Amino acid sequence: MYQYGETAADTTREMAQKHFKASLDSLKSRSLNGPWKLCLPQTSRFHQGSLFLAIETSCDETAAAVFSDEPRILSSVIASQTDLHARFGGVVPEVAARAHLQRLLPVIDEALRQANVRLEDIGCIAVHNTPGLVGALLVGVSAAKMLALVLEVPLIAVNHIEGHIYAARLAAGRDIFPCVGLVVSGGHTVLFHCRDALRFDMLGGTLDDAAGEAFDKVASLLGLGFPGGPAVEREAAQGDPSAVQLPRAFLHDERLDFSFSGLKTAVLYALAGQSQPRPAPPPPGKQRADLAASFQKAVVDVLVAKSRQAMRRTGLKRLAVGGGVAANRSFRAALEAMTRDEGAELFVPPLAMCTDNAAMAAVAVEKWRRQDWAALDLEAVPAWIPPAPT
Ligand code: KG4
Ligand code: ZN
Repeated sequence: MYQYGETAADTTREMAQKHFKASLDSLKSRSLNGPWKLCLPQTSRFHQGSLFLAIETSCDETAAAVFSDEPRILSSVIASQTDLHARFGGVVPEVAARAHLQRLLPVIDEALRQANVRLEDIGCIAVHNTPGLVGALLVGVSAAKMLALVLEVPLIAVNHIEGHIYAARLAAGRDIFPCVGLVVSGGHTVLFHCRDALRFDMLGGTLDDAAGEAFDKVASLLGLGFPGGPAVEREAAQGDPSAVQLPRAFLHDERLDFSFSGLKTAVLYALAGQSQPRPAPPPPGKQRADLAASFQKAVVDVLVAKSRQAMRRTGLKRLAVGGGVAANRSFRAALEAMTRDEGAELFVPPLAMCTDNAAMAAVAVEKWRRQDWAALDLEAVPAWIPPAPT
């Protein structure tokens, strides 16, 4: 985790102020006809070989990355806020937004330092502007717009969900499209037919809780703390995955949808019967470990089965998986076994690229190639808007 300090923050702030003043002066001298001129993408500075600076602040990780248009990642810095939210048992949006404000500039500074480049070397700014917590997103989007304005470089808006799939493309180091894409994060569980890096048809999604959300809620029920996914995984390693019979929604159903809220309730009932609304967490021991292992197996079984079904339905022999739950080792092992069995290729990023980061915003390179720039009135859009069918 990056430890931030004032010195790093000051450097970026000074540079930003210097550029901001210079840009304003140059704007004034260009006798603008109206404020809408500010919304035009600035493309003059970007040329082949230029570098991208990306920003991610959609939830509780403050992240920045520098990459080239190959794309090749030069640096990826992530400041996790886990310590701030742990005592609340979940992400507190207001706390997250404030922490992003404090940490973003130092994190950007560190990303530039690790990439061994200066702000002046950046030819394009990329930012995750959707989906996420609105206050959190706003911090990144505002910073990105300010940087694009003062550096006079283009701004590119990146969809966080598309970024999670692109992390698999980055890790592969080659084209992986077309493929079936599965995003399993704290807020989303969605299956796509990914025609290319930016054209996704939705095949199905969760009707209630996301897979990561189910991990977090079950972790809370079992008293395993926050963040829930890694805690359940650790606990499950001590337990028997066949010890408790738990439901697997839609497992034998044609539809490619998911539902995890019944599974969470089943864990609650297995823990304390149906009478108690919220039992005390179980003590460490066999019951707790068995419940964690059985729950994890139920989630993995469904995710793997639906991914197999999606590949068979689309005829695609490639599966790309991204999002925090893809960091789960049991899930990864089950995916490997399934894809081997199907004679298909599996693309899953390394663990640190599954959870939120800014390097996955390298999908901006694909948008750059299509000249898909954002205007400087770009908004933070908290809700996820499913892609229109292609
Ligand atoms: O993609 P991500 O970092 O943030 C969102 O975009 O939501 O995903 C976070 C989610 C959390 O729900 C977390 O509990 C889950 O991913 N997660 C895991 C593991 N690591 C993170 N779930 C299961 N096993 C893990 N090892
Ligand atoms: Zn995410």
